[in-house]
Amino acid sequence: MIQQFLPALEAEIKEQKLGESPQELYEPIRYLMQLGGKRIRPVLCLLSYSLFKGDWEKVVPTALSIEIFHNFTLMHDDIMDKAPLRRGKQTVHEKWNDNIAILSGDVMLVNAYQYLNNCQHLSLAEYQHLLLRFNRTAAEVCEGQQMDMNFESRSAVTVGEYIEMIRLKTSVLIGLSMEMGGILAGVDASKAKTLYEIGERIGLGFQLKDDLLDVYGDPEKFGKQVGGDILANKKTYLLIRALESAQGEALASLHAWLAAANPNPAEKVRAITQLYTDLGIRAETEAKINQYFDLAFEAIDQLNLQSEQKEVLGKFLSGLVDREV
Ligand code: IPE
Ligand code: IPE
Ligand code: MG
Ligand code: MG
Ligand code: MG
Repeated sequence: MIQQFLPALEAEIKEQKLGESPQELYEPIRYLMQLGGKRIRPVLCLLSYSLFKGDWEKVVPTALSIEIFHNFTLMHDDIMDKAPLRRGKQTVHEKWNDNIAILSGDVMLVNAYQYLNNCQHLSLAEYQHLLLRFNRTAAEVCEGQQMDMNFESRSAVTVGEYIEMIRLKTSVLIGLSMEMGGILAGVDASKAKTLYEIGERIGLGFQLKDDLLDVYGDPEKFGKQVGGDILANKKTYLLIRALESAQGEALASLHAWLAAANPNPAEKVRAITQLYTDLGIRAETEAKINQYFDLAFEAIDQLNLQSEQKEVLGKFLSGLVDREV
């Protein structure tokens, strides 16, 4: 069944209902949505739904609302992060310009709400609850994104602050994806909460993995600029732990690179990557990723699933740890 989710989602994306004119407003949306992407959020939503109900096809458009919302955040995130590449192609603000990426992103957010509306089988109260959860999550993503930006220019950020920042910018949406599958299937509040918690834990591991791939990913596969976080002085788990554990010359060198006014980008990426490697940060990050995924797996037991369903969910989640993209 899970193999059918992606083709169903891609078909729905192909038919995505958007306006036509001005084309500078709508073309970037089609461009970004059709560049691909793993679609893990709507797949998780459909997977959660199908743990409880068989007729998952009818909630495909609602699940798509989360993917549209996610892509809206990426369009704006790439402006904020000055990112040149997304999914192996030029980012929207590079291909067009910042204003186009801002406004296309705005209308994308509206479009996401339009797709959320595709759940007539819910009662008004259930729908209002879903909307409340969606709205709260959307605001939290913006809170996390603002923290991420604030941290760029702050010298000391603790691991605890970092985890809270990634919980907000990334995990809550993955949590909502799973919770939404449950809400659409009519599960009780306790199961909905467990689904959210599984997603939230996965999301923490997922963002840590994203940070790791930003340094050690294969540029051919990763689809984004490797080293982008280093160039932006992003307070990732890797940088925070490096600042905490480096001493003497290594620490001085790290501080010098962070303070450098106009560094050669390739040299900065190379030097900081080497410092991470020497400090054993890669293995440390991998261990932390596994820790969050293990916590997610523990929570699965609370769903009381049949062994076959548990296996499908477990297998999909494991793929998110092992990914190279
Ligand atoms: C990228 O998300 C942003 C993060 C939260 C790490 P994905 O890694 O899910 O990106 P796509 O949608 O597959 O391109
Ligand atoms: C992005 O985090 C999270 C959101 C878009 C909300 P990143 O900035 O690390 O995501 P990528 O690496 O650009 O995909
Ligand atoms: Mg960012
Ligand atoms: Mg980014
Ligand atoms: Mg990243």
